[in-house]
Amino acid sequence: MTTSRAASRKASAHAEGHHGWDEYAPFYDWENARTFGRRDVPFWQRLAASRGGAVLELGAGTGRVTVPLGKAAAARVVGIDRSAAMLALGRTRLRRARLGNVSLVRGDIRHLPFARGAFDTVIAPYGILQSLLREADLKATLSAVAGVLPRGGVFGLELVADLPDWREYQGRVSLKGRRGRDGRPITLRESVRQDRRRGLTYFDQEFIEGRGRTAVRQRFTLTFRTVSVPRMARRLEAAGFEVTAVLGDYQGGPWDARAAVWILLARKS
Ligand SMILES: C[S@@+](CC[C@H](N)C(=O)[O-])C[C@H]1O[C@@H](n2cnc3c(N)ncnc32)[C@H](O)[C@@H]1O
Repeated sequence: MTTSRAASRKASAHAEGHHGWDEYAPFYDWENARTFGRRDVPFWQRLAASRGGAVLELGAGTGRVTVPLGKAAAARVVGIDRSAAMLALGRTRLRRARLGNVSLVRGDIRHLPFARGAFDTVIAPYGILQSLLREADLKATLSAVAGVLPRGGVFGLELVADLPDWREYQGRVSLKGRRGRDGRPITLRESVRQDRRRGLTYFDQEFIEGRGRTAVRQRFTLTFRTVSVPRMARRLEAAGFEVTAVLGDYQGGPWDARAAVWILLARKS
């Protein structure tokens, strides 16, 4: 094992799912526009529009989903996120969109700072619940979500499907492009590590912006936990929800274990 691999493994013992996002923030939208994009956004917009009432988004980040949600929903939309740097970009996006019904709040999803029953719908897009690395964190979050919903309120969440299937690799250039008005070159070099015993996947990322001696490097690790659909369904039920649908695509098609999309919809009992 090389020294840097040994150091990464040591750091992993102290990993938290909320680590790395401040460092990732300046690159998040750039990378996202080239990878996942906006394919889930119409799904969350339709859910919010069909529900009416106030919506809370867990892990709102740079507002990729929050802002379009605010456009689709007439009612109040609140996004919560722990990363000040992600939220700063979200606030810029919000100002540009000139939406009066949307607000972004800094906080941790394990302890939601809202009144009981304050929202009609809570959504957790793009694997945010997989940033909760311990069973106790997931339990606390599901209980907090149940607290801010009234009876009959809806909780929709998406799990990132293929984390355990990612092959491990080291130092692979996974993206290259240009960014900013001056078209600075930018490269993403990435390593993937799996801790199958703990069900954790680590993405060690290094963004290199510019060239040669003046290049700026940003290194950080993001960690995600695998949670299967059946296990999440059991956790939801234990937290006082009834699972009403498990979807395998963004058009509402049914889920099976090979589906590329894992969405659960649940109603507070
Ligand atoms: C994959 S990003 C999703 C951002 C946005 N929802 C989207 O789909 O583009 C996950 C976000 O969750 C936030 N996050 C991770 N753990 C958190 C926690 N415990 N409490 C609040 N936010 C958290 C991160 O700061 C990050 O902005």
